[in-house]
Amino acid sequence: MKFTAVRLYEEEGKRVSRRVEQTLDDLDPGTVVIKSKYAAVNYKDARAVTGVGKVVSRYPCIPGVEVAGTVVESTDPAWRPGDVVTVQGGRDFGMRRDGGYSEYVRVPGDWIGRVPEGTDPFESVAMGLAAYTSALAVEELIARGVTPDKGPVLVTGGTGGSSSFAIDMLAGLGYHVVASTGKAAETDYLKGIGAAEVVGREGIAAGDKPLEDQRWAGAIDAVGGKPLDALLRSMKQRGVVCAFGNAAGETLTTSIYPFILRGVSLTGINGNHPVPERGTAWSRMQRGGDLRPRHIEDIAYTIAFEDLQAHCAKLIASGARGRAVVKFS
Ligand SMILES: NC(=O)c1ccc[n+]([C@@H]2O[C@H](COP(=O)([O-])OP(=O)(O)OC[C@H]3O[C@@H](n4cnc5c(N)ncnc54)[C@H](OP(=O)(O)O)[C@@H]3O)[C@@H](O)[C@H]2O)c1
Repeated sequence: MKFTAVRLYEEEGKRVSRRVEQTLDDLDPGTVVIKSKYAAVNYKDARAVTGVGKVVSRYPCIPGVEVAGTVVESTDPAWRPGDVVTVQGGRDFGMRRDGGYSEYVRVPGDWIGRVPEGTDPFESVAMGLAAYTSALAVEELIARGVTPDKGPVLVTGGTGGSSSFAIDMLAGLGYHVVASTGKAAETDYLKGIGAAEVVGREGIAAGDKPLEDQRWAGAIDAVGGKPLDALLRSMKQRGVVCAFGNAAGETLTTSIYPFILRGVSLTGINGNHPVPERGTAWSRMQRGGDLRPRHIEDIAYTIAFEDLQAHCAKLIASGARGRAVVKFS
């Protein structure tokens, strides 16, 4: 059987992705073969496909860290042909082992999670790592005492996949959500998914002083770098920042004063847990849960597998709105 995959190669110091024809023998070993139906496009997947940064650390390798589909072969007693399953987050999938940008994937059985009966696999991938990571951040804000009555919560990188779900979830819980974005033209979209206010990326802090006006009771930061510094300097007393992203930069230069004079906390969020190991945040996102996003259809959309590389190039060059999901034919 022959099928198509997008494979990343390292050639003369550069990383290059190509659509290639494969057989099962070309894939990394595993006990379960899945026919792919949907695969997510996360920021790190786009970096991998376009060869930006070192997301993938083995070459050649198929990128794509999240996929859902149907089991077609299994030597693992836990899985049978016909099971509707997903592989998302954690382990080496799509980074050190062949991942989801392939019409067939092969993995060890313990990397797999079941798509709950009655749930469309699209929904599972559409929410995926993006919504799960945001749900972890929301849980952390609540655990650290940032309740809706404490004041506005800022979400940076507002139009991104993860941030869109953060806005949606926070609004659903009754928070006054302020979205910051570099895409002023997407104000209606951001308000439609729950933002009470939208500010430009430069609108996070009033100026460059080590302590600026106190504006945010909490923040969910998807971008790092200078915007993270700006929001730390404009947090309210005992404000909490949950950071999980690096779209604006991998380094943070800031002042000690928000921490020692306002008691601000900065906490890191890592959502790279395989589905079988996800805890309350994952279950609270499922149907009927209090973190269930209310605007999945507005945030997520499908693209054809043939368009994956072009979409990733666009995402890295100029950003995209919401969360793209590859649909395999
Ligand atoms: N730690 C974890 O477990 C975890 C899990 C998921 C994601 N992440 C990280 O979270 C970030 C977002 O991921 P995603 O998949 O949601 O990506 P995404 O859909 O591409 O969203 C990123 C958003 O960041 C903003 N942005 C892009 N470049 C920027 C720049 N130079 N300066 C300021 N803002 C910029 C844009 O929003 P606006 O135009 O609206 O500003 C963009 O839509 C990535 O860094 C990703 O690696 C981490």
